Amino acid sequence: MRVVAELAGANKIYKSGDTLITALDKTDLTIKTGELLLIIGPSGSGKTTLLSLLGCVIYPTSGQVIINGVDTKTLNSRKMAKLRLENIGFVFQSFNLIAPLNALENVIYPLQLLGVSNS
Ligand SMILES: Nc1ncnc2c1ncn2[C@@H]1O[C@H](COP(=O)(O)OP(=O)(O)OP(=O)(O)O)[C@@H](O)[C@H]1O
Ligand SMILES: [Mg+2]
Repeated sequence: MRVVAELAGANKIYKSGDTLITALDKTDLTIKTGELLLIIGPSGSGKTTLLSLLGCVIYPTSGQVIINGVDTKTLNSRKMAKLRLENIGFVFQSFNLIAPLNALENVIYPLQLLGVSNS
């Protein structure tokens, strides 16, 4: 099966004043097509940080996050947004819908950004 996402020694460290907070220790992970993956751990263990790296929302502090063969660190924020649009889908616990749009329009919006035609 094809590898769709990979972390190679990827970690995330936040700076808060003089304090360094390790949100995710160096992590190696390979995800192949069709795999169902559960990320389980206590509060603060780095689940959201790991998902944010895989979802191309944040860059790793060091190491590599590779999505469909592309190292996210080589992408600027604009190219990262394109990769996210074309490859990533999030279903949030709270829906995070765009308020002025109805449900259908919320579905249509990212498709329009992708250039999918109405017909
Ligand atoms: N933007 C940030 N700035 C500073 N510290 C952060 C940031 N995001 C996460 N952290 C810290 O990194 C650690 C991991 O956070 P993360 O949100 O990934 O954990 P989690 O496993 O998703 O927790 P929960 O189960 O509560 O959702 C925590 O100590 C958190 O306080
Ligand atoms: Mg979380």
